[in-house]
Amino acid sequence: MSADEVRAAMKEKSVDTVREKSGESDLVSVQDELRRVDKLYGEALGYARQFIDDVRDGKPFDFQDAAPLVSGFIDSVFRNESAAAAIGRLKAFDEYTYTHCINVSILAVILGKKLGYSPEKLELVGIAGLFHDVGKAVIPESILNKPGKLTEDEMEVMRTHPLRGYGILKAQQNIPVEVLRGTLEHHEKYDGSGYPRGLKGEQISDIARLLAVVDVYDALTSRRVYKEPMPPTKVLALMYKWRVTDFHPNTVELFIKSLGVYPVGSFVRLSSGLHGVVTDLNPLDPLRPKVRVAYDENMQPLEVKDEDLSQGDLSIMDVVNPDDHGIEIYSLIQ
Ligand SMILES: [Fe+2]
Repeated sequence: MSADEVRAAMKEKSVDTVREKSGESDLVSVQDELRRVDKLYGEALGYARQFIDDVRDGKPFDFQDAAPLVSGFIDSVFRNESAAAAIGRLKAFDEYTYTHCINVSILAVILGKKLGYSPEKLELVGIAGLFHDVGKAVIPESILNKPGKLTEDEMEVMRTHPLRGYGILKAQQNIPVEVLRGTLEHHEKYDGSGYPRGLKGEQISDIARLLAVVDVYDALTSRRVYKEPMPPTKVLALMYKWRVTDFHPNTVELFIKSLGVYPVGSFVRLSSGLHGVVTDLNPLDPLRPKVRVAYDENMQPLEVKDEDLSQGDLSIMDVVNPDDHGIEIYSLIQ
């Protein structure tokens, strides 16, 4: 399915979005929340480095410090979920191993909120996100960061990380069962084609199902040693295509509703030929977000102009990878 087709499919569902969102408004602006969540993200990076390094060194890590960080993520998501969802991509300068666990934690809270989870359950979801890949800390770097394609043997080693992560967490005291299962089952797929156990459908824990969705999104939108990041809209279109085999019914659709067809931070080409960054969603009109126009047809900088696409004739023609043009999105959006 192409990005155009997913846009069409989501448009059909926009009636639900209207119903759900009409009573909801963000407590603070995207820009205000980016400043707050940026600081929290920095603290979380410090924690992620510490616990992953401790696990690599075979030491127990400080599990208790995870809860206050996750409750900070939850507060951020409730203030402005578009900003919380975007921060991981906008700040993606650090090592993937560290940023990925934080991004998955935040995105998992966003999806959990959409699923109507209680605050207590959201905390479990966020903690499970933070630790879901802890088993990768004991996978050799040569496999983890290999620039080329993994051999079948290397793939087999890589596929041990959910079970090894489960073992690492189980060896600690008082890790909730939901977090253990989230770690063990996050690579299981709805149709039973996942690993390590080939669980199917409802056999997979609800937190693991949710992690599976946000994990794939973050992996594909992130830069890795062996690949460039893909624009979020294109990743969501791919996931929409895989929704029946890999993921539980409606989970991908709900995730797209949360993030928008063009998530905040997307770099887009407009019908005028000009280019800009999505600065906010229009929940009542998901295909027509707010865009800060900043580049012309030839990617030459322009005087910045904010356009609300729900008011007027401009529309989005395509998503563009800003890295291909050396454009840094974060400073543009602030
Ligand atoms: Fe994983």
